[in-house]
Amino acid sequence: MRIDVVSIFPEYLSALDLSLIGKARQQGLLELTVTDLRGFATDRHRTVDDTPYGGGAGMVMKPEPWALALGAALERSPRTADEPGERPVLVVPSPAGEVFTQATARELALREHLVFACGRYEGIDERVVDWSREHFEVRPMSLGDYVLNGGEVAVLAMVEAIGRLVPGVIGNPESLVEESHSDGLLEYPVYTKPALWRERPVPEVLLSGHHGRIARWRRDRQLQRTAARRPDLVAALDPAGLDRADRAVLAGAGWTVAGGRVLRDDTTGGDAPGSPVA
Ligand code: ADE
Repeated sequence: MRIDVVSIFPEYLSALDLSLIGKARQQGLLELTVTDLRGFATDRHRTVDDTPYGGGAGMVMKPEPWALALGAALERSPRTADEPGERPVLVVPSPAGEVFTQATARELALREHLVFACGRYEGIDERVVDWSREHFEVRPMSLGDYVLNGGEVAVLAMVEAIGRLVPGVIGNPESLVEESHSDGLLEYPVYTKPALWRERPVPEVLLSGHHGRIARWRRDRQLQRTAARRPDLVAALDPAGLDRADRAVLAGAGWTVAGGRVLRDDTTGGDAPGSPVA
């Protein structure tokens, strides 16, 4: 996979030299280039922002440096524009974008070329997005309902979430199967040695060596934890994927399966969301 990041703070992205993503780059699994938007400014002050038309607070990023920087990223594309096949994806981090989820990460991990455009100030002149649609599949993306100072932190998060799903980046792909969000549930709690730590024992079942009971215990903890912390995820579960034991655990947490959906049952007196769960 090829990834291009354009930013006025390229040093911000130096964390991508480290850990699994850094290793994947060294191994050639990910080809990642970070470019400085100011290198594409057209004046001697290397200006990349200007005042907003219509007035208002703050500054807006000028369109031409962006078009030049994105054009340079397009030239690094594994495929040329006249070759058949998919267009590169242009991810524009913004609190006004669609929410980036594990499903988005999975989808983008299958693409050949991702370009990330880190906006700062009040954002990028909207015409850059219109122009980009001629060359890219454009995806404005938000990490969540809060405002960051710029796209760089969001790009670090997205590149890590996507990059670890690229085949070969994680040594043991099994670890991707059992993590939070892989099956619509939060992950189960984990423990390591010693078996007794500061008067706190590891749950007995985990020492039993009984794989079936351990799997059931873990699944129960996943369901309870998800019900307590993320009722939105429980409401989105497909009842077809829930066995009798799952339904019993959910019933204990105040949820019932009815009409092909998982519904909150306010009359069962189950745990309220936010109640403490390991
Ligand atoms: N830039 C500023 N806030 C952001 C957010 N919440 N997600 C992605 N990019 C952003």
